[in-house]
Amino acid sequence: MTKKRFTPPAIKRLQSGMPGKAGIPSQLNPIPDIGGIPVKQLLRDYGSPLFILEENTIRNTYRKAKDAFESRYPAVQFAWSYKTNYLDAVCQIYHQEGSWAEVVSGFEYQKALANGVDGRQIIFNGPDKSPEDLKLAVENHSYIHIDHFDELYSLIKVAESSTNRPRVAIRVNMDTGIFPRWDRFGFNLENGEAMEAVKQIIESGKLDLMGLHTHIGTYIISVNAYRTAAEKMAALALSIERELKHQIRYIDMGGGFASLNTLKGAYHSAADTTPTFDQYAEAITGAITRAGFDPSAMPMLILETGRALIDDAGYLAGTVLAVKRLSDGRKNLVFDFGVNLLFTSFWYDHEIHPVEEQNGFTEDATLFGPLCMNIDQLRDQTRMPLLKQGDQVVVKRVGAYNMTQWMQFITYRPNIILISPEGSAHLIRKAENLESIRSSEETPSHLKK
Ligand SMILES: Cc1ncc(COP(=O)(O)O)c(C=O)c1O
Repeated sequence: MTKKRFTPPAIKRLQSGMPGKAGIPSQLNPIPDIGGIPVKQLLRDYGSPLFILEENTIRNTYRKAKDAFESRYPAVQFAWSYKTNYLDAVCQIYHQEGSWAEVVSGFEYQKALANGVDGRQIIFNGPDKSPEDLKLAVENHSYIHIDHFDELYSLIKVAESSTNRPRVAIRVNMDTGIFPRWDRFGFNLENGEAMEAVKQIIESGKLDLMGLHTHIGTYIISVNAYRTAAEKMAALALSIERELKHQIRYIDMGGGFASLNTLKGAYHSAADTTPTFDQYAEAITGAITRAGFDPSAMPMLILETGRALIDDAGYLAGTVLAVKRLSDGRKNLVFDFGVNLLFTSFWYDHEIHPVEEQNGFTEDATLFGPLCMNIDQLRDQTRMPLLKQGDQVVVKRVGAYNMTQWMQFITYRPNIILISPEGSAHLIRKAENLESIRSSEETPSHLKK
């Protein structure tokens, strides 16, 4: 008898479309229209793929978040996180609703000014502020949130040659019980660095320390982490008042609330794990209210919420380019949009729905984009209706970070439209074309034909 050949054991991921604990995926439901307009018509008028934003949803979500905080705390201010979506039309909606601007670069700062935002209502965060950026922000009386000691010293230099006193806060990082800890931004609380920065600001005599800022991370589903952060921020503010006789005017809790997108690899769907605005608000405002501030001089509470405010308002509509099979027999759908446009598909399992009613049958499928690059995979494994070439689909909850983090790679970036409250479509960003891309290139004369 011949000895059997040894086959080393291997772990193979189970490819199954069985219902999970959360039931059968609901991607079968068609999305025939958005904001009252048929998706078919939008794709015909503006081309495929197409980003679509709904103004009503932006406003309603913002109002819900604002109410959650304002019903619990006397002084609340939201500042729209530009990097989440800095299309001018989107920013103007938030500014109309009363939101300030929160920016993290000279470019974003200038975009906020160009949008007509009063410099006193711009919060300048981030680790990259050039001396020119700092000068501009000081001239416009903006709130500058200092990220590191080198920036503090640059700002003191700027202050020496300016007639305005810079209005500043420090960004504080801390242990809130979540992992990974975002400690690369700002000054650490536990090792005393934050207090040291505060002392240097006050001792410089050149800057007005107005507030304290933190941003504990993004897509944080633990309200306890916010409670801990708010307690620690309030305690720091109170010890600055006590030890340095300096009043802190505002506490900025940053952004980070989770949206209703489900993270890749998550066992439960986001609908089961994402806290409501009321839950976040209760944790944060409860901690600050109980901290021991003089009730007549409570610090203003600033929030820089991004993704949780806009994800739901954004859709990406597109078309099936091809239906294929992989070598293992699995269905492979190729769409006309990929990771170039849907950057968030690197960490979210986006819901992708057909535009038209399907026959009810589904099949396991892997979803790819149009790029001739192996990385262009939108979903490794999902359950999809039996779509065919030319069928149209809608990806839900794409309002945050896709229209800023997208890349011009292989194909053009498409049109973006906004559906206004009365139901009309407005083009708010034109698709790229050969001319718009070539217009910023130069060919040296010896290479010209
Ligand atoms: C300083 C700061 N504020 C606000 C935000 C918005 O965060 P999110 O979209 O998670 O609410 C970010 C994003 O990372 C940020 O870095």
